[in-house]
Amino acid sequence: MYECDRSNMWKLLEDFPKMCRQAFFASSGLSPIKVSNVVVAGMGGSAIAGDVVKEWLNPPFPFEVCRGYHLPRWVSKDTLVILISYSGETEETLSCAKEAKMAGAKMVGVGSGGTLSRMLEGHPFVRVPTGLPPRAAFPYLFFSTVRVLKDAGLISAELDEEISEALELLPLVKERAERARELSSKMLDKIVFIYAPPGLFSVAFRFKTQLNENSKMPAKVDYLPELCHNEIVGIRSTPSNVCFVLLRSRWEEERISIRMDFLKSLLEGREVIELRGEGKGRLAEMLSLIYFGDIISYHLAGMRGIDPTPVEEIARLKKVLSAKPFPL
Ligand code: PA5
Repeated sequence: MYECDRSNMWKLLEDFPKMCRQAFFASSGLSPIKVSNVVVAGMGGSAIAGDVVKEWLNPPFPFEVCRGYHLPRWVSKDTLVILISYSGETEETLSCAKEAKMAGAKMVGVGSGGTLSRMLEGHPFVRVPTGLPPRAAFPYLFFSTVRVLKDAGLISAELDEEISEALELLPLVKERAERARELSSKMLDKIVFIYAPPGLFSVAFRFKTQLNENSKMPAKVDYLPELCHNEIVGIRSTPSNVCFVLLRSRWEEERISIRMDFLKSLLEGREVIELRGEGKGRLAEMLSLIYFGDIISYHLAGMRGIDPTPVEEIARLKKVLSAKPFPL
């Protein structure tokens, strides 16, 4: 679509709905298990799959997403640890795999292979296609994680309808690419501040990270109701090159809507964009917004003449780290 899109990120965006279906209908190799809690360990474009799953499910058991070298100390043989690393080489995630093994936890991996798959020999491993930027593999990583939890008996069949709706609705979202392009031009040359209500925190964070990695732009995210206790003070002094994006949810509680309205009154005269997801179910809302945000981040890269695919700073840092291999 843009000449600067040398690795064809657009094709991966077009394939987003297809990847979702492929991953959901693949088998994870898991059968129902009894666990007391779940931890998803991963970083960056891999970890976000865990955030979205957790926020969507809001499960009736402890569920933590662990970003870093160490698992929570309460992980035990009663924990299911889902290790997600697209490359299979992320040292923080490998370190968590080592700790999960030591804790005797039940383990399952999601990724394209690499060291993680070798460390998890003898445990289920959901293999997704290789050769993608990790963040573009989000549909695979997200639905593989859903598959794992479903096969493990940890997602109730009541949610099947939400899953079907989301899978059916996503291809339609692609047709909104034009609206995404229009909105992108409003964010061009701006710093985007994203504010999200409960239920869309992970979506807001994904949008921020896509602006960072695809569009190579700084961006900031904050959450309601917490931001009403700090961020709103002085918000009117925010530099004029800031564009505010408010994510809105069909499930916003009244108290949150009152806060959103107040926030908007403080932002009068500023560039404010409100984004709403599609569909009836919470999953459709979340995934349609994620897809929409991904497309916006793509257009912003294109408009700035920047190739959305390479993430030079991340690659450089990984090289620096590999000079002193992490002890496993
Ligand atoms: O988008 C990216 O490239 C990063 O955020 C990676 O996802 C992150 O560095 C972790 O790598 P991986 O997803 O391969 O575990």
